[in-house]
Amino acid sequence: QTPKGSCLEAVKIAIDAGYRHIDGAFVYFNEHEVGQAIREKIAEGKIKREDIFYCGKLWNTCHPPELVRPTLEKTLKILQLDYVDLYIIELPMAFKPGDALYPKDENGKFIYHETDLCATWEALEACKDAGLAKSIGVSNFNRRQLEMIMNKPGLKYKPVSNQVECHPYFTQPKLLEFCRQHDIVIVGYSPLGTSRDESWVNVSSPPLLKDPLLNAIGKKYNKTAAQIALRFNVQRGVVVIPKSFNPQRIRENFQIFDFSLTEKEMKEIEALNKNVRYVELLMWRDHPEYPFNDEY
Ligand code: A2P
Repeated sequence: QTPKGSCLEAVKIAIDAGYRHIDGAFVYFNEHEVGQAIREKIAEGKIKREDIFYCGKLWNTCHPPELVRPTLEKTLKILQLDYVDLYIIELPMAFKPGDALYPKDENGKFIYHETDLCATWEALEACKDAGLAKSIGVSNFNRRQLEMIMNKPGLKYKPVSNQVECHPYFTQPKLLEFCRQHDIVIVGYSPLGTSRDESWVNVSSPPLLKDPLLNAIGKKYNKTAAQIALRFNVQRGVVVIPKSFNPQRIRENFQIFDFSLTEKEMKEIEALNKNVRYVELLMWRDHPEYPFNDEY
């Protein structure tokens, strides 16, 4: 959640800086501001709708197939757009449908819901056929869950992407290789190592941007550790979605296309992998489809 208006400003600054891919979600509670920013920039003549790539997300309480299209339509109404470029299942874990986005019982325990990822996926396929989403994908899916979709009898469209945590301390070598083999793009969230907000981040893993190697390589190219971390992923074919509300850092995070890392530097950065997630979502670890118990 963001202070009123800050997302509108950030998205407008980002579009001016050259960003075209915007990663959003209903549960970020700022989709109206994202939509407004896009529409203002179109009205200004800065961009056309087709220049923008907006990714929206289906929340856990909306997995039942009959809820998928109405939920996407609600997002489109909030955005005031006709379609999203990509619509993804935000997490493979269904929660009880209803007004509460984080439904809990009287003991404070999360109320889950029967999860049928194949049925939810079929409803996403129908949204694509209806033109409400140009492409469909998933997020936080492990290999087993991806295979479940890809092996579904009668599959019409496979997921184009899987959005997962990915950065030099969590490089995802196995999932990346698997997705490469199956032509699924990895979109890396928390590419800068998160905001280290202790309410949801595992801060036992050290701060990524303080890493000595990333800073040393940055010095060589006159770049920051953040720019090196982003360039690393881009150069290995991982899409990055850095988050910032600071105008200078928004611009900084886009200045990664005027240099390249050597093969040796790429290998050195890959070796920083600690296989420890910042975003563990442990509060949902007892969900039958909790994705992070599997090896990858
Ligand atoms: P801010 O909004 O003040 O810039 P991630 O994308 O991995 O989730 O990281 C987001 C966090 O990193 C935010 O707290 C953001 O803060 C901060 N951040 C974004 N860009 C940079 C940068 N270039 N250098 C340092 N911190 C950054």
